[in-house]
Amino acid sequence: MSNLVVVGTQWGDEGKGKIVDLLARAADVVVRFQGGSNAGHTVVNDRDSHVFHLVPSGILYRGTLCIIGNGVVVDPGALIEEMDRLQAKGVKIGKNFLISDRAHVILPYHKAIEKAAEQSKGSRRIGTTGRGIGPTYADKMTRIGIRMGDLLNPALFRRKLEENLIEINVFLERLYQLQGFQLEKVFQQYMGYAERLKDYVADTSAVLNKAIERGRKVLFEGAQGTHLDVDFGTYPYVTSSSAAAGGACTGTGVGPTKINKVMGVVKAYTTRVGSGPFPTEMPDAVGARFQERGKEFGATTGRPRRCGWFDGVLLRHAARVNGLSSLAVTKLDVLDGCQELKICTGYRHAGKLYRDMPSDIQVLEECEPVYEALPGWKMETTGITSYKALPPQAKRYLARIEELAACPMDIISTGSKRNQTIVVRHPMASAHRKSARPRRVR
Ligand code: IMP
Repeated sequence: MSNLVVVGTQWGDEGKGKIVDLLARAADVVVRFQGGSNAGHTVVNDRDSHVFHLVPSGILYRGTLCIIGNGVVVDPGALIEEMDRLQAKGVKIGKNFLISDRAHVILPYHKAIEKAAEQSKGSRRIGTTGRGIGPTYADKMTRIGIRMGDLLNPALFRRKLEENLIEINVFLERLYQLQGFQLEKVFQQYMGYAERLKDYVADTSAVLNKAIERGRKVLFEGAQGTHLDVDFGTYPYVTSSSAAAGGACTGTGVGPTKINKVMGVVKAYTTRVGSGPFPTEMPDAVGARFQERGKEFGATTGRPRRCGWFDGVLLRHAARVNGLSSLAVTKLDVLDGCQELKICTGYRHAGKLYRDMPSDIQVLEECEPVYEALPGWKMETTGITSYKALPPQAKRYLARIEELAACPMDIISTGSKRNQTIVVRHPMASAHRKSARPRRVR
C-alpha cells in the first residue's frame, strides 16, 4: 500500500501545487479532500504554466484519475470556467475526472452572505477569499446544504432551493438591506451547470476504495494549510474545512487504515494571506525581500502575502496533528544571499515560554517570538538537483528544520519548474510502474 496525504504545514501557499504535481506522476488517482476555489496554485511544466483552483493538478498526466472528494465545496460556475481554460490549453478532461455526488455546492447567496458579513465585521474581518466557502460549509453543518447529487434531481433541487431562499432572502434583506435572490433565476443557472457536469458526478468513495483494493496508488491532495484548519488553525482566522490530514478520510470516504503516509509541505520561510496572528511576520526589509524574491502574491486573489522568518512552533504543531511521515521543503532558493537566517523555536508571552502552539488567539497576537540565528549562504541554489551540491549552511538550515519536525525530508524544491527539485527519497516509489495508457478503475 502506498497511499499518501499531502498537507500544508503553515498557512497555505507552501508550494503544494508543485509537490503534488511531482508526486502525481507516480500516482494512479489524485483526490482533493477539502476547501474549494479559495485554493489556487500554479504548476509550471515543460511547455506551459497552469493555474488550478478546484481540479487536481494530476489532470496534466495521462492515465491519472482526478477526483473532487465529498469534503470539497464546489462552485460549479468556477469549476466549468477552470475546465474550459484547461481544455483550451489541450488538457484532456473526460473519464479521467470525477466529482463526488456528496460534495456541497456553493450558491450565489453564500457569496453575498460572506461579503456582507465580512464588511460588517470591520477590523475583525477574517480576510476571506470571498468565494463563499464559510457559508457553504455552515449550511452543510446546519443540514440545509445542496449537494452535487441534488443538482441531478431537478425537483429535489428546486424544493431545497425554494426552502432555503425563503429564509436567506429575509436574512439578506432585513439584516444587511440587500436584495434577495430569485428562485427561478438561480434554478435555471444551476440546471445549466448540472447539464454540463452531470457525467462527472459519481459515488467517488466507492471508486476510491475499489482502486485501493486493486492496489492502485492514491494521492490525497490537501489545500490551504494546517494553521488554516478549522480545528487546529489560528481560530477564528482560519478557513472552514479540515485542512489537516484527518480531513483526507472524512473528505473522501476512505478509512484511516487505507492511508499509510503523510507528507507535510513547508516553505523555507513563512507567509500568510488574510487577517490573523503571525508571530514571525517581518513587515520590514526582510519581509519585502521574501515577498519580492518569492513572488508572494496569492494565486486566487492576487493579494500580497505577509512574509516572515521560519516558525518552528508551527512546524512542530503540524508534525503532531498531521502525524507527518516526511517533509517537502519549498522555495529554499528564495533565501539565497541572506547573511543570517532566523528560526523561531518558541513564543514568549506574559513571562511564559510556549514551545507548543497555544490555542489562545490573544497569546498568539501578543507574543514575542524566540529566535535562534543560523548563518546564511551566498551561493545561488536555484535549480540545484542534488543534496550534495547544496552549500553547507543550507544543509545546516534544512537539518534544523528536520530536527524540529522530527521527521525526514524527502523533497527539497529549488525553483518553480518541475526539474528544479532535489528528491532525496520518493514517498510513493515502489516496484509498481504506472502504465502510460489511461486506466479504468471504476
Ligand atoms: P476562506 O477560505 O475564503 O473562507 O478564507 C479564510 C482564510 O483562509 C483567509 O485568511 C484566507 O486568506 C485564507 N485562505 C483560504 N484559502 C487559502 C489558500 O489557498 N492559501 C492561503 N490562504 C488561504
